[in-house]
Amino acid sequence: MEPTFNFWDNMAKRYPRFNDASMSKDVNYIINWCQKKNVSFDKMSVLDIGAGTGAMAIPLALKGANVTAMDISEGMLAALNEDANETGVKQHIHTHQSDWDSFPLEGKYDIVIASMTPAISDLQKVEKMLGASKNIGIYVGWGKYRINKLVEALVKAHTTAEEDCASAGCIKAEKFIEILKEKHIPFETEFFPTSWKEEYTFEEAKEYAYDQLKRKEITPNEEIVESILVANTFNDKVIVQTEAEKGIILWRVA
Ligand SMILES: C[S@@+](CC[C@H](N)C(=O)[O-])C[C@H]1O[C@@H](n2cnc3c(N)ncnc32)[C@H](O)[C@@H]1O
Repeated sequence: MEPTFNFWDNMAKRYPRFNDASMSKDVNYIINWCQKKNVSFDKMSVLDIGAGTGAMAIPLALKGANVTAMDISEGMLAALNEDANETGVKQHIHTHQSDWDSFPLEGKYDIVIASMTPAISDLQKVEKMLGASKNIGIYVGWGKYRINKLVEALVKAHTTAEEDCASAGCIKAEKFIEILKEKHIPFETEFFPTSWKEEYTFEEAKEYAYDQLKRKEITPNEEIVESILVANTFNDKVIVQTEAEKGIILWRVA
């Protein structure tokens, strides 16, 4: 039987950890911006939805927060727990593996955060997030652009112009803002540019390419994938460059 494709568990093997420079520059920007808006994390109960490897959860625990880090992926949470142990903040982080839809909300949290996660992919999931917060909500999503030429080339080479491929992404920052406006919830927001470079061996890049295509429900063609990867190989490494804008949205519960 074909094993179930689990994009996020596969991704966990190469997803940046909290102390990776490309990750921490964005997280520091987000946390500093929130602090400038008078958000204090010290001794706060924080729910981090789709916490991943702990990019936000670990820095927030280091700032004194008591974090519940929930995520659908066992692999992501294993990485988070490993780093939380090594950083000495394990007692401030409780992990919970589940889909956001089935996450049991037993009470409210002082601060609820969701950063770059498809856990928040429709109105019902946004509403659950809004209802989970006692004081503050923070959403981080893609802004106006996200350019990854390698993935674009892979998708283009596998689909015709008329075909639309499935997207499993999170709600974009602009869309989240529209929802808050419709609900008359006041918010503050900031958009910032970011970029990062990933370097893979040819075999790692092949796995990356297959995961990206399968996530969009496209069946990878080995010959096409390999020819695109060859064109993106420099000094025996496949380089994947991403340029993007991220949007931070901060609201306070009335
Ligand atoms: C791009 S990562 C973001 C991780 C982290 N929040 C960050 O900012 O780096 C997306 C995370 O959302 C998680 N995720 C995806 N769908 C989910 C769902 N339905 N419920 C909970 N977590 C989910 C994935 O497992 C993954 O760890």
